Amino acid sequence: PKEPEVATERTLILVKPDGVQRGLVGEVIARIERKGFRLEALELRTLEREKAEEHYAEHRERPFFGELVAFITSGPLVALCVSGEGAIAGMRTLMGATNPLDATPGSIRGDFATEIGENIVHGSDSPESAERELGIFFPDRF
Ligand code: PPS
Repeated sequence: PKEPEVATERTLILVKPDGVQRGLVGEVIARIERKGFRLEALELRTLEREKAEEHYAEHRERPFFGELVAFITSGPLVALCVSGEGAIAGMRTLMGATNPLDATPGSIRGDFATEIGENIVHGSDSPESAERELGIFFPDRF
């Protein structure tokens, strides 16, 4: 039987302010490229509070929402549009579990982080989130 087809997707990836501060931008991008995913867009910017709240809107009621917004706006981040076959789930695997202590060694968070609040990268979790989030970061492009 034929393998099930995997869709070509695009996803929003962020190297968060901790990743930029620690000089891990090249490391993250190298892993994305080495895996075989493609870079479609890339920007270094500091996020306005309003954009951050929009990006994390689904977490508005969670106790750490304020912390999340303060952190993501605390310094420059790198926003990337990454594409490829199965890019959404593939990038989540490359990043590792949200809590870096649970992330497999070999993944970005598994190799470089210990704290859930400072976990270096963000990646969209579904095709719907990817389109929504790409619209926030690259409104003229996607
Ligand atoms: S996920 O990946 O969306 O299923 O993870 P989730 O647990 O829902 O977390 C959503 C984002 O919130 C961050 N997070 C936290 N930040 C600070 N403190 C605590 N306790 C905490 N728990 C979760 C987590 O890193 C996710 O950020 P993003 O940028 O979406 O990866």
